[in-house]
Amino acid sequence: MVKLESVSKMFGDFLAVDNLSMDVAEGEFLTLLGPSGCGKTTTLRLIAGFEQPTSGNVYIGNKMVNDVPPYRRDVNTVFQNYALFPHLTVYENIAFGLRLRRLDPSTIDERVRWALKLVKLDNLGERKPRQLSGGQQQRVALARALVCHPKVLLLDEPLGALDLKMRKAMQIELKSLQRRLGVTFIYVTHDQEEALAMSDRIAVMNAGIVHQLDTAAAIYEYPKTRFVADFIGEANLLQARVSEITADTVWAEVNGHRLPCARREGLRPDQAIWIMVRPENIRVLPVSSQEAPAPSEKTAVVKGVLREVVYLGATLKAITDINPGLTITAARLSSSSVVSIPTDSEVQLHWPSSAGHILTE
Ligand SMILES: Nc1ncnc2c1ncn2[C@@H]1O[C@H](COP(=O)(O)OP(=O)(O)OP(=O)(O)O)[C@@H](O)[C@H]1O
Ligand SMILES: [Mg+2]
Repeated sequence: MVKLESVSKMFGDFLAVDNLSMDVAEGEFLTLLGPSGCGKTTTLRLIAGFEQPTSGNVYIGNKMVNDVPPYRRDVNTVFQNYALFPHLTVYENIAFGLRLRRLDPSTIDERVRWALKLVKLDNLGERKPRQLSGGQQQRVALARALVCHPKVLLLDEPLGALDLKMRKAMQIELKSLQRRLGVTFIYVTHDQEEALAMSDRIAVMNAGIVHQLDTAAAIYEYPKTRFVADFIGEANLLQARVSEITADTVWAEVNGHRLPCARREGLRPDQAIWIMVRPENIRVLPVSSQEAPAPSEKTAVVKGVLREVVYLGATLKAITDINPGLTITAARLSSSSVVSIPTDSEVQLHWPSSAGHILTE
């Protein structure tokens, strides 16, 4: 439905989008995720036609639209600040685009009522924007974009101005609305939880570059770069070196510890790598515990000193110092036996070798 082909955008001599290629399928919910200034809004504006690519091509449907002005593209944009007309009622805000298109009054009325109902504002049509809450204004902006039946909806941090509770509720509503209507969504956020909760696929961006475009689960479990590993969720990133490669294990050396990792292709002995282990895959046991598995090809084991147990409600974080100079964070359920281990006592950490994900960049 939308395709970017080697798209770059320069502002003066600043490269805001760097050779970006991606394909968005019809009906897909794709999220651009990345830190402030990484080029998310610029990418949306390139798709909407508010910016011209310095090089590369933009396609909507199967049509190259580089020279098509924004109002002739089959996309609508919901801006972060909603951009509602303050002097018009909710009803007239939503009808605005249809009136511009000179549709007949009964069609306009029918469509506006459909859109009002869709966003659950049926009885607020006569209000002015200033008489609405932030969340309600956000829905008006959404209705105004959907009423034109765009094939593609571009949403730039549409929930950014809402409080956390409202945002979570709107995430679920927006996602189910998108699924029901089958509209292709390209959604911008810098909130990784929001991206994980809503998207079919996520494009993780940094400094104008897409590091990885994948499903939420693939990005979380198999990040391609350290940036992605670190940006999505929490990660222990251990600087390491390949020490031995066997049939189904890669042994890595980390500050004198030998750790088995998940097998991956294209490595050579002595290569500099990083190992990523997600905190929830790490178990913490007292050093004397009989439960602990022996170190093997299947299990990584390291000993250390439990420094801190941080209570976070449903889960807790256990922070362990490993000699020399390593700190590893484990996340366990708050009901776990970790709570009964005194801080500053010796512990052993273990995780399945399959949870040790190797990164090379
Ligand atoms: N018109 C412009 N002229 C010059 N530089 C620009 C222009 N628009 C954007 N930039 C720069 O391009 C980079 C990417 O901007 P963009 O607005 O796409 O970031 P973003 O990922 O949307 O960030 P945020 O999360 O803060 O909204 C930034 O460094 C920004 O300063
Ligand atoms: Mg932006």
